[in-house]
Amino acid sequence: MQAFENFTRDELIKRKNELTKEYENYKKQGLKLDMSRGKPCSEQLELSNDLFKYTQNLFSEDGTDCRNYGILDGITEAKRLFAELFDVKTDEIFVAGNSSLSLMYDLMAKAFNHGLNGFEKPWSKLEKIKFLCPSPGYDRHFAITQLFGVEMIVIPMKDDGPDIDMIENLVSQDETIKGMWAIPMYSNPTGITYSDEVVRRLANMKTKAPDFTIFWDNAYGLHHLYDTPDRLLNLIEECRKAGNPNRAYMFGSTSKVTFPGAGVAFMASSKENINHVKKQIAIQTIGYNKINMLLHVRFLKDAANVREHMKKHAEILRPKFEAVLEILDKRLSGKGIAKWNKPRGGYFISLNVLNGCAKRTVSLAKEAGVIFTNAGATFPYGIDPQDSNIRIAPTYPPLSELKTAIEVLAVCVELAALEKVLAE
Ligand SMILES: Cc1ncc(COP(=O)(O)O)c(C=O)c1O
Repeated sequence: MQAFENFTRDELIKRKNELTKEYENYKKQGLKLDMSRGKPCSEQLELSNDLFKYTQNLFSEDGTDCRNYGILDGITEAKRLFAELFDVKTDEIFVAGNSSLSLMYDLMAKAFNHGLNGFEKPWSKLEKIKFLCPSPGYDRHFAITQLFGVEMIVIPMKDDGPDIDMIENLVSQDETIKGMWAIPMYSNPTGITYSDEVVRRLANMKTKAPDFTIFWDNAYGLHHLYDTPDRLLNLIEECRKAGNPNRAYMFGSTSKVTFPGAGVAFMASSKENINHVKKQIAIQTIGYNKINMLLHVRFLKDAANVREHMKKHAEILRPKFEAVLEILDKRLSGKGIAKWNKPRGGYFISLNVLNGCAKRTVSLAKEAGVIFTNAGATFPYGIDPQDSNIRIAPTYPPLSELKTAIEVLAVCVELAALEKVLAE
């Protein structure tokens, strides 16, 4: 395909007229497609219908009656399962309710209200707090930091993770930088997995703030699309080796393994951090839903079985991701107006259109009945400085709807680019 820059003005106008016709035809179809959030589809949910079959008795392996109060940090078999899956020790993990996001929110609230382990001065007592936000990233992370009045610093994402030179430089000089967000595996939305070097440097770097904390959101740690998955180094272990054992908290959940909203979430960190946070959580709750933990362990069995279960998710999702990539390739490649990643796992494809064209593209698609995540949502404060990034969430819609939505998107990407080029 010829790049736009080699077109004459007349050729560009001709192309725009052709596309406008195609766009108007889509508009006439009265489409109503929602591509805005990364949810599992019904077929994926069906995979876990047997979860509630295992109610023969509700006693855990050590005889705990899961119907009753007792045990704050999760039943033994749930801790063992998550510890094995995420390569941490059972005394480094806290198994909780359904949402890892609420654990992240909670940790931020604790840092603000009471202080983290060993650093009793709460962040709320400080004049200014800043957080590093690898971007594009997850809008709900940024919403948490914004709610607490934390200043967010955009860190560009590279092919091996966030710009680590920039991070090292910033944290070594500025004591008000108290932490960072990270989605280290099949990142939302870029699909990037952090390289070993980036993980090691995060664990080892000198930080001016002694309580610099990494919120390591491993939401997609099990969500491979292919049989040769990406590999992620264990940050908790690397922090221990580096002599910074309390630097990182890892989060994860079964939201996209079993059921969002009815899964089990966990938080892992050094034993010391977990013991400290346990004392704080003990004031907030007597315990989480142990029955759900028990049913999850009975259904998921062990780490090997979870990996098999995740392959079934991959079989459903792979054709959807590949369909999106095929359409983007067919319609946009070589034109010099868009770039996108080819993720090997996770829930998203990240599309970068010509600078200044993302909002226009998303609004054209909306007018044609196809809703995408708002342009800008993948950046702190909802502001993409380049107005370039669009997050595609291929998991939820049926394949035929997904294909139509991406065809429409491709038309809108090209139309918005032509509008820009012709206006220049
Ligand atoms: C990066 C990331 N973290 C966390 C979540 C939410 O996880 P949970 O359902 O465990 O709260 C999502 C959901 O899309 C996500 O993309």
